[in-house]
Amino acid sequence: MNFETHKKILKLKYGNTLKYYTHLFGLWLKSLYHRPFRNVYTYGKENKISYCPEGLKIYIWGNGNVVEIDPTVTYFQGQISIGEAESPTDNCTVKIGANSSAAGIAISLREDNSSVTIGKDCMFSWNIALWCTDFHTIYSEETKECLNLGKTIEIGDHVWIGNGVYVLKNTAIADYSVVGAGTLVSKKFTEPHVIIAGTPSQIVKRGINWSRDTPSNYLKKNSLSFQRKTPVSSIPPMASKQQATR
Ligand SMILES: CC(C)(COP(=O)(O)OP(=O)(O)OC[C@H]1O[C@@H](n2cnc3c(N)ncnc32)[C@H](O)[C@@H]1OP(=O)(O)O)[C@@H](O)C(=O)NCCC(=O)NCCS
Repeated sequence: MNFETHKKILKLKYGNTLKYYTHLFGLWLKSLYHRPFRNVYTYGKENKISYCPEGLKIYIWGNGNVVEIDPTVTYFQGQISIGEAESPTDNCTVKIGANSSAAGIAISLREDNSSVTIGKDCMFSWNIALWCTDFHTIYSEETKECLNLGKTIEIGDHVWIGNGVYVLKNTAIADYSVVGAGTLVSKKFTEPHVIIAGTPSQIVKRGINWSRDTPSNYLKKNSLSFQRKTPVSSIPPMASKQQATR
């Protein structure tokens, strides 16, 4: 049905009433912003969204932003927000790799040219915040220079992030790592196969990997005993601090 036919039908339905004009006004308002997918709201120009799985909401205020989600990502609950009405944000990138999943995540970007990258097969629990911004400015009293600009969050492949974790701006978590429940990540962890935990976050175990199975199922599948064959190395907290770099 073309727009003219639609208009005629509406006129017949509503007559020349206020209701009819209100409806037309609503249609016009809707056409002001482009919604390539359900649950995607973009206000601005040249924003590209490759795909949005059910359960995820994407809000963009600004121009030239890119959200690239691999089509194999089916369970990713939460929201991605780039910019806001009062401060549109340009040229940001969010990438989510193949087979990654999330039970409840909020990814926020508010700085131009900033990016959040999530690798393949990552698993996010619920109540998780990835903030590639502090939302407000801290500056040098003397020079007025901004001291807390958000640039990147980089999460490698096969990373498991536990419940209630905050990942702040300018941070990294390397491949095959786990972040313990309630941890606040505020540094770059570049060593793979580690468990990061606590506030301030630090490496609490090395040489690990993880599986989506429950421990019980994992043991059944692999016919292992409950006893550890290879002890994983625990390291004292002070030594682990040196592994994290800003
Ligand atoms: C990270 C986790 C998986 C590690 O389990 P684990 O390998 O059995 O680790 P351990 O219990 O041996 O702990 C190792 C050390 O890290 C500390 N630690 C573990 N998890 C921690 C956390 N979340 N915060 C702070 N410290 C933590 C332990 O106290 C211990 O310290 P110590 O060596 O000084 O005694 C687990 O502690 C965790 O956080 N579980 C919750 C996972 C989750 O959120 N699941 C939700 C569904 S996705």
